[in-house]
Amino acid sequence: MSTLAQEVARRRTFAIISHPDAGKTTLTEKLLLYGGAIQMAGAVRARGAQRRTRSDWLAIERERGISVTASVMSFEHAGLAFNLLDTPGHEDFSEDTYRTLSAVDSAVMVLDAARGIEARTRKLFEVCRLRDVPIVTFVNKIDREGREPFDLLDEIEKTLALDVTPLAWPIGMGGTLKGVYDLIGDRVLLAPRLSEAEGEVERAEAIPLALEDGRLDALVGAEAAARLREEVALVRGACPPFDLGAFRAGHLTPVYFGSALRNFGVRELLDGIGRLAPAPGLRPAEPQPVAPDGEEVTGFVFKVQANMDPLHRDRMAFFRQCSGRFRRGMKLTHLRSGKAITVASPVFFLARERGLAEEAYPGDIVGIPNHGSLRIGDTLTEGSAIRFTGIPNFAPEILRRVRLDDPMKAKQLRRALENLSEEGVSRLFKPLNGSAWIVGVVGPLQFDVLAHRIRSEYDLRAGFEDAPFETARWIAGGEKSEIERFVSANSQAMAEDPDGALVFLARNAWALGRAQEDFPKLTFAAVREQA
Ligand code: G4P
Repeated sequence: MSTLAQEVARRRTFAIISHPDAGKTTLTEKLLLYGGAIQMAGAVRARGAQRRTRSDWLAIERERGISVTASVMSFEHAGLAFNLLDTPGHEDFSEDTYRTLSAVDSAVMVLDAARGIEARTRKLFEVCRLRDVPIVTFVNKIDREGREPFDLLDEIEKTLALDVTPLAWPIGMGGTLKGVYDLIGDRVLLAPRLSEAEGEVERAEAIPLALEDGRLDALVGAEAAARLREEVALVRGACPPFDLGAFRAGHLTPVYFGSALRNFGVRELLDGIGRLAPAPGLRPAEPQPVAPDGEEVTGFVFKVQANMDPLHRDRMAFFRQCSGRFRRGMKLTHLRSGKAITVASPVFFLARERGLAEEAYPGDIVGIPNHGSLRIGDTLTEGSAIRFTGIPNFAPEILRRVRLDDPMKAKQLRRALENLSEEGVSRLFKPLNGSAWIVGVVGPLQFDVLAHRIRSEYDLRAGFEDAPFETARWIAGGEKSEIERFVSANSQAMAEDPDGALVFLARNAWALGRAQEDFPKLTFAAVREQA
């Protein structure tokens, strides 16, 4: 196998999806411990604890350093290279999360054993399903009283319409938790005592032991052993056997049980991701999908962070590599502008040797500092004219009009709004009738964040007022004359996005429905793929 093929084969690029409080931060931290990224783990913890409140979130977000290091965490374990992409915790940032999910090859779904599938887990799962991202399930917090494991499996199967196959089974739960039984390897993993577990890599080795073996009774107690045998018989009867193909196609989820806090079952999960989750594969692109072992470097930008250094107004574009071997100093072609860019100072996210790496492979994320030329959805290649597809741009759900406190600074404000909208979290619309800009977001907290950043990063004062619009749709399709007719019939509700694409700002759902009825040849897209 070539070096490139070997490097591709050992990459696992994944994200963790969960409802807030299910344990994503704790699990991330424990996973990083396996890669020796202990300092980084501290950073994750600090962030998890602080982002709970609004003001703390702002404070932490100002320390851009932390949020960037924690955006991508790369670590090595058992000969594999893992790239864990962080997704923002607050639901107002869901759009950012959706795009991050377009850059992974698999996801871990963390459930709280007492709560099961919650609203946000479900929403995020649906996004994964759009792309058939394979999902490994981790039922967390089994050190506390939770719901019956059968009940949880049933819920996953029913609410997500997904086959479930447990690969491990808890021996007791909460106060009676003894350990976990590995259903594939027929091994018992004993739960550590709390004092042993805190902050450390799992020490206990799994003990190979058949279910029927009498020693199991001595190990976990006769009652727990009998119950385990009974439950495993039921599980094996009721759940389909694990099928790698079905998992990789996104139709079946393997389920692990454990406790992130007590660092129990985490190594099994990590080994499971290593063994089962796919290495980088074919990526959807036009005119044809891109295979990872192609010699030419290709990839796309899925996230942009502006103003990481307020003095220099630079941005960091997060580039998901899809093929080839990337080297520092490479020249890549930026498809949208047709220009060549030299990637002189890429940022690699290796936990231990951050910044020292000189090369990257498919599945890796490379941070590319730039001055605003790179945008979400942009494709970079060594020359071929391909375009990666499927990086969504969602219609904002809340629209407000920008109010500038000092009209002399309109130009500066426009620049600030454009810069910030390039990060992709807010949308900027310029009404065609010349009235003040409209900003759209997916969650209302974004307005506070925007106002705060406009003040602190650009020294401008702006506010956001109610606008008479509820939603926005990108207009496409139809003859030019049809579009012109639509624009003149709705002149007070038309706007352009910063790319010059035509947008209809609808007063409410009724107005949108009416417009669609009156102009059946036009499409009103709620999601626009990045130009
Ligand atoms: P999140 O990122 O998904 O929002 O969750 P996070 O890891 O911050 O965990 C949420 C809470 O659940 C934390 O408690 C955390 O300690 C706890 N937790 C995580 N995993 C487990 C587990 O396996 N077992 C138990 N019993 N608890 C777990 P907290 O009190 O809200 O925060 P903290 O004071 O511990 O930081």
